Amino acid sequence: MKSPLIISSPASRREFIRNAGFFALLAATPGLFAEELVRTPAQTEGPFYPDKLPLDTDNDLLAINDGITPAVGEVTLVSGRILDQKGEPVRNALVEIWQCDAAGAYLHSGTTNKEKRDKNFQGFGRFLTGSSGEYLFRTIKPVPYPGRTPHIHYMVKMKGHEKFTTQCYIEGHEGNAKDGIWKSLDEKGRKAVTVPFAPMKNSRIGELAARFDIVLGFTPQV
Ligand SMILES: [Fe+2]
Repeated sequence: MKSPLIISSPASRREFIRNAGFFALLAATPGLFAEELVRTPAQTEGPFYPDKLPLDTDNDLLAINDGITPAVGEVTLVSGRILDQKGEPVRNALVEIWQCDAAGAYLHSGTTNKEKRDKNFQGFGRFLTGSSGEYLFRTIKPVPYPGRTPHIHYMVKMKGHEKFTTQCYIEGHEGNAKDGIWKSLDEKGRKAVTVPFAPMKNSRIGELAARFDIVLGFTPQV
């Protein structure tokens, strides 16, 4: 089945940035008990972390600075919390994501499909967590490229800690079972990094939403 290509308008971008109520909505999501938390498995950084960062590194990957032509792809709000092993939110964690565009091209000089790269897709974004540990990005639903099932790369950086890298996958995607990096995880690990990309309720433009919490393997010093 061919995925619909949804184009966002600059107006919807402004709406997104102003949407202060979004985190309040997320806060209503039931949490897990601390003893149920599974540490998020680390996954390879891979070869395509941008070798030259984009001019814009904010959390809206669909538009670069004030560009009016939006990126091609299925608009998705990806959010979650950065947590420690006890389930406490981690503040001041710099969350970075990067992924290929709708044509399978990364923001990297060594990418395949370089000539087809979507110049309007930021390909990389950053979000610094506050006291809730929440992060939020607006991006596209990841697509497969040769050899890989769809995924979003994550890197979490914190003062005094080693950087942590992992990847987030689409629940139910047929490519997962053929993907060597996804398959390298045990069942618990796969579950921890594979999440639903589901249509958002009451969305006028048919955006998807995905929740991906990252549980780090440490307890911060108090
Ligand atoms: Fe990748």
